Amino acid sequence: MTHKGGIIVLDFGGQYAHLIASRVRRFGYFSEILPADTKASELKGVAGVILSGGPQSVYEKGSPQADRQIFNLGIPVLGLCYGHQWIAHVLGGEVKPGAVKEYGRMKIEIVKDSAIFKGIPQESVVWMSHGDTVSKLPSGEFGNFAPTARTPTCEFAGFSDEVKKIFGLQFHIEVAHTEYGMQILKNFVELSRPAPWSIKSYSQHIGDQILRIVGDRKVFMLVSGGVDSSVAFTLLNKVIGEDRVQGLLVDTGLMRKNEVSGVLAAFKKLGITNLRVRDASGEFFGRLKGIYDPEEKRKIIGAAFIDVQKSVSDEMGLKVEDGWMLGQGTIYPDTIETGGTKHADRIKTHHNRVQVIQDMIEKGLVVEPLKELYKDEVRELGEELGLPHELVWRHPFPGPGLGVRILCAEKPQTVGQLKITNLALPVSRTILPIRSVGVQGDGRTYRHALVLFHKNSCNVEDGDISFATLIPNGVPEINRVLLCTSNEKPVDFTFTPSFVTKDRADLLRQADAIVDEEMREADLYEKIWQFPVVLLPCGLGEGGQSIVLRPIESQDAMTANAVHLPKDVLERMTKRILKLKGIDAVFLDLTNKPPATIEWE
Ligand code: XMP
Repeated sequence: MTHKGGIIVLDFGGQYAHLIASRVRRFGYFSEILPADTKASELKGVAGVILSGGPQSVYEKGSPQADRQIFNLGIPVLGLCYGHQWIAHVLGGEVKPGAVKEYGRMKIEIVKDSAIFKGIPQESVVWMSHGDTVSKLPSGEFGNFAPTARTPTCEFAGFSDEVKKIFGLQFHIEVAHTEYGMQILKNFVELSRPAPWSIKSYSQHIGDQILRIVGDRKVFMLVSGGVDSSVAFTLLNKVIGEDRVQGLLVDTGLMRKNEVSGVLAAFKKLGITNLRVRDASGEFFGRLKGIYDPEEKRKIIGAAFIDVQKSVSDEMGLKVEDGWMLGQGTIYPDTIETGGTKHADRIKTHHNRVQVIQDMIEKGLVVEPLKELYKDEVRELGEELGLPHELVWRHPFPGPGLGVRILCAEKPQTVGQLKITNLALPVSRTILPIRSVGVQGDGRTYRHALVLFHKNSCNVEDGDISFATLIPNGVPEINRVLLCTSNEKPVDFTFTPSFVTKDRADLLRQADAIVDEEMREADLYEKIWQFPVVLLPCGLGEGGQSIVLRPIESQDAMTANAVHLPKDVLERMTKRILKLKGIDAVFLDLTNKPPATIEWE
């Protein structure tokens, strides 16, 4: 078992469970998320257990439950939010709907020394998000509990048994809004005394794992040119040798400018030449003709990848019977976003997890060497393996490529009367006649973007930034707020029915290349996590289109903040993009995730 000596996060369905694990790993210790109902017997030998938050009430029928025998393992246990309430609930305390529901920033006061509060001032700000509250502390056979922290409306915001090292905290320490959250987590982790972990030590384990899974078989792998598949491919080459690996780079027609040649050159430098290129762009554009629905588009792209891969492997005679299997560069968050953990909501189907692949995984025909790693760890590993810095630090790029950045729609989407509550909308505004994806609450939304206009249009003002939060919160039809950087006065944009075509991909490729160049010129490339450039079927007349700039900063793509680009950079990008034939307008997306997603489709 890999989790021996590590910190286990039991997942009660909270959207931040993965953040806890990734932060523990950044401290230099192994951490992994396991289902809430993992048997205590499977946790023997782990250093500590963290019980995550979750959206349900502990007293609801069918709410997630852990094995209460975890308290007999003699290891530290920390419950957060739902986890905190669950400890109280199963150890003889009481949980009730709170008199006051607490959401957002709150001040807590520490009322008793606790090992996990080492180095924390008596008062600090924390992030609360709960309707229920612990109304009576646990007692009895499992421990001797005392309150450790409170807020004005929550008497037991923290409790502990310092001897048994069982801790409950009503607030979320894993989010940045909790002032001393990282210190509290570190205190807990250190008192659990986990085994040290680093990507260097872990790469040995991954190597062993690859050898065990692959055995004497051979691996065929799709390489996209992105960080993950490049690292996985290099690793497979190093571990099982070049003669047992075959790579395939499918040119989908949805790649970035000069992408294929750049990737080939990078591998060549490492002496890796077992990568074949197949131009399948005609096939992809053919299948995408007349497709307007984003999920359908994703599925078609995923299926086309698999079919091309199959036809190339058939041509090359690479058969399962002859010992060939499939390699994939899937990383940990990919498996979570597809609903890979039991209680997490499905955000979207990841292309590495479509049905055909799932079936192959069940038959033991897939090797995914990076599936336990986070992005930053994959990058570290890539550098270890000698991949060029520029490739390893490339911005994440979605598997379906520019396909998810070419917005498709058959009919204009108009909005009726806006349902505005308590908010005065800016006068200079318009709403785009299309919709895009967002995440609001626990699920996906498909809503409109509101565009702001003002003088000095490339200058992001404080008002724009606050509208980007206030409007999606206060207007149910809106999930994004944009600033129009090409026009100072409001315009009503036209809509043209559009799907993915080669012409549209070529146009977006040019805009994307301009953004890339300007970003590097301004020395912003490594300060920005990802910078999608999106093509909209909206313009100033029949067939007119526009471009959205979507620079964001993030740590793991699960949450993200919009980057407010400097005025001169924005001006240069806007001016150059407007010169492209067919582009009528440019926008800057100011929305954070949530409520918007990073990509538009
Ligand atoms: P969202 O748009 O959900 O994106 O905020 C989160 C991260 O995932 C990437 N992304 C994808 N990656 N296939 C992928 O391989 C996809 O269909 C896909 N959609 C989004 C996105 O670029 C961001 O890094």
